[in-house]
Amino acid sequence: MKKIGIIFALKEELEATLKKLTLKNEYKIFDLTFYECEKKDKECILVECGIGKVNAARCTQILIDNLEVDCILNIGVAGGVSKKVNICDVVIGDKLVQHDFDLRAFNHERGYIPNVGLYVNCDEYLIRTAEKIKIDTNTHVGTIASGDIFVTELNMGEKINSKFGALCVEMEGASIAQVCYLSNVPFLVIRSISDSPNKSANNNITFDEFLEKSSNTVAKFVNKLIEKID
Ligand code: ADE
Repeated sequence: MKKIGIIFALKEELEATLKKLTLKNEYKIFDLTFYECEKKDKECILVECGIGKVNAARCTQILIDNLEVDCILNIGVAGGVSKKVNICDVVIGDKLVQHDFDLRAFNHERGYIPNVGLYVNCDEYLIRTAEKIKIDTNTHVGTIASGDIFVTELNMGEKINSKFGALCVEMEGASIAQVCYLSNVPFLVIRSISDSPNKSANNNITFDEFLEKSSNTVAKFVNKLIEKID
């Protein structure tokens, strides 16, 4: 049976997907709770990693080392930094970058990681499979940027968009990508837009308002994806 690891940063994000699956078992490894679920012929292991790149990287390695997953999905919400994306749209990552990784002092471009590169590509098969899914919101395929900062400033969002071509920002995906790349595990990041950095415009952060709705949107998407993965 195919085993899919699914990592979420927040409880709200995990619960939206958990509701759609049949829970079979749950257990803790260190302080992380793993929810073993079934969906038709698939086994899914859901886990809440906590916020930020270190939490996400640690959780990913624990998942890989202990649970022999065939692939990893990172599911959740994100801030839109491109004019192409609107609140609740779904973004399928084709590649991930750490926008706050900075070795410019050593003549590397911002985001470049010596043993990894600038971008880490998501698995081709998982991208193509996700692209075929239709739900009642717009879906985009493109770059997702991660960093240990909740981006609220319009200016910072615009810079991340123009420097990296990112459609959205979040705080975990690229570190999960790095660990999967280094451990040779196929992965995909899928996010739904909960807010857009726009502080200088009207100081109106919609994260709290849309966390539940966007989590439900991306849960609907991943539910269909789980069925389609061979
Ligand atoms: N996750 C959701 N919205 C975000 C934002 N604006 N910045 C970073 N991570 C996010």
